[in-house]
Amino acid sequence: MASYNLFLLPGDGIGPEVMTEVEKVANFLDQSGVARFEMDRGLVGGCAYDAHGQSISEADMEKAQAADAVLFGAVGGPKWDAVPYDVRPEAGLLRLRKDLALYANLRPAMCYPALADASSLKREIVENLDIMIVRELTGGVYFGEPKQIIDLGNGQKRGIDTQVYDTYEIERIGRVAFELARKRNNKVTSSEKRNVMKSGVLWNEVITALHKREYADVQLEHQLADSLGMQLVRWPKQFDVIVTDNLFGDMLSDIASMLTGSLGMLPSASLGDVDPKTKKRKALYEPVHGSAPDIAGQGLANPIAMIASFAMCLRYSFGLGEPADMIEKAIANVLDAGLRTADIKGSLPSHISTTQMGDAILAEVKKLS
Ligand code: NAD
Ligand code: IPM
Ligand code: MN
Repeated sequence: MASYNLFLLPGDGIGPEVMTEVEKVANFLDQSGVARFEMDRGLVGGCAYDAHGQSISEADMEKAQAADAVLFGAVGGPKWDAVPYDVRPEAGLLRLRKDLALYANLRPAMCYPALADASSLKREIVENLDIMIVRELTGGVYFGEPKQIIDLGNGQKRGIDTQVYDTYEIERIGRVAFELARKRNNKVTSSEKRNVMKSGVLWNEVITALHKREYADVQLEHQLADSLGMQLVRWPKQFDVIVTDNLFGDMLSDIASMLTGSLGMLPSASLGDVDPKTKKRKALYEPVHGSAPDIAGQGLANPIAMIASFAMCLRYSFGLGEPADMIEKAIANVLDAGLRTADIKGSLPSHISTTQMGDAILAEVKKLS
């Protein structure tokens, strides 16, 4: 039986709460012989800062580099608002993405049939929605230099972030989007702001050339990022795969989450290239949501985004498509049965807890297997 080494980084706030529910599912798949999952745990974010003054230790970075896949919960919270910028909780996540070269962030937004009335938009707008946002994750304004605050000496300061993209970075994320589109509905919408940004002009040129050269069979359209945000809430079903930069992708995927009923529903996969020698690729799986300090410790977190991220891990890292489909089917069945955590519209007053939702999904996985 294949054996996989999972490195778990639950993080802060609701991160550990939702990770516990994934562990139950992974343990069951292990015991039932789907695959062996060796699980090791580390610290990232505020809890790592509290333990050793860094948002992730060198030892845990090495474990992340060596793992077959990393499962990441969430980081951050008001407790660490005043810690130095370089060691703030979010820096641990950014370092993982950069050092593991996880440039392709896949953020699927699917509206489960049972949640078509839970979105803040009308049923007909979101029913059967299935879009994939491909967010560039290791470049752009998140990492461009210079990135600093300088003192201008006249009582004024200047905050600087720099948006930088090189051809190869745009081309490789474009390729991910076109390949995914070929397996889906064959359409890519590329988004930037070429009307005001030089990096947007280059982005548009590179995607257009790549399309012409290698992917002319895929339908390609371009939308300016502000307008795309509007189109996402006007008529999201016009999209199949959206490819965009790091910052626009961050914002557009949070917007897309509300099409599915809750930010607590959106999983993601952060992928690097396949190593030609080992044939393996580095990968980290994380929900799109954050540490939700406002509900942490109260059993209110929706664990579905984290559990669905594990399903993506099975599919993309281990080629275990069937168990991945089974987990997604289990989630759909539990929602069909009317079970809801408190974040989902219409759940009150009879919502269930994080643990109850995890247990219900596990019970359904057991039934289906
Ligand atoms: P957030 O995503 O943590 O929360 C936004 C809102 O959504 C909150 O009302 C929260 O209660 C709700 N929510 C989020 N996930 C939920 C879930 N699974 N179940 C139920 N409700 C859920 O965003 P924020 O409040 O802007 O940020 C809080 C902290 O999290 C910040 O420190 C931020 O930097 C960090 N953050 C981390 C990640 C990450 O680790 N990947 C992602 C986003 C934000
Ligand atoms: C996300 C988060 C992160 C981001 C933060 C926590 C660094 O918002 O994963 O969506 O901005 O990428
Ligand atoms: Mn975000």
